[in-house]
Amino acid sequence: MSVHPSSNIKRITTHILQEMKNRGEKISMLTAYDFSMAGIIDSAGIDIILVGDSASNVMAGHETTLPITLDQMIYHASSVVRGVKRAFVVVDIPFGSYQGNSSEALRSAIRIMKESGAHAVKVEGGAEIKESVARILSAGVPVMGHLGLTPQSIYKFGTYTVRAKEEEEANKLIEDAKILEESGCFAIVLEKIPAKLAKKVAETVSIPVIGIGAGGDVDGQVLVVHDMLGITQEFKPRFLRQYADLRSAITQAVEEYVKDVKAKDFPNESESY
Ligand code: KIV
Repeated sequence: MSVHPSSNIKRITTHILQEMKNRGEKISMLTAYDFSMAGIIDSAGIDIILVGDSASNVMAGHETTLPITLDQMIYHASSVVRGVKRAFVVVDIPFGSYQGNSSEALRSAIRIMKESGAHAVKVEGGAEIKESVARILSAGVPVMGHLGLTPQSIYKFGTYTVRAKEEEEANKLIEDAKILEESGCFAIVLEKIPAKLAKKVAETVSIPVIGIGAGGDVDGQVLVVHDMLGITQEFKPRFLRQYADLRSAITQAVEEYVKDVKAKDFPNESESY
């Protein structure tokens, strides 16, 4: 059992995640990219925090996940790790740091683990990255797979629409899931695929399957935290349930602050030394 050194809180491990699947308890997962947000969602009871390369979109304002670098991912990951006492922290290996070169994949994974203190890495793809997955695992680094809509391949797909609706792509996805399981991945993310196919994958492999836009018959769910809190604008896919409207709350608070400063109402006497 792993315990957070200063809190006695029992940490989530790959073993605990597997037990959750085995007993039918759903796994909750959200992204985070910084110390403060990670601390909030960790103390709210999230099981897995993903330091996603979606940081490229929501933190840096890029159109895709492709530009973010390994150094930038490590910066975000180390900030998250410092805020987390219980959750299992997974970090995306960014585009260009693992595909097609298993030595580089291993080097990237080791840098993430060593420099951030995270607990696992995530990679996108199936058969084509099998060697990289095996190499990373050989160093004792847990690997989460990611199939379906894999945003690092957006220029191959051309659009962000639902993947694997046709039989051929669905069959390849099932085969890829089996390959990832056989390779030793501890879990797989399935993004934006038909719910029926996701259910089949979750029944076919024994490791946890976490869905985003993949229906409810999988072992857990993941969302981008900025999307579910209503911070991002104009991103409203069908699969997204918005749990708060922080954009409006922040806008209102800032408008009030500006008004108070202009009106010389802030700071008042009790807020001054
Ligand atoms: O980068 C990310 O946020 C992700 C999730 C969408 C699963 O990969």
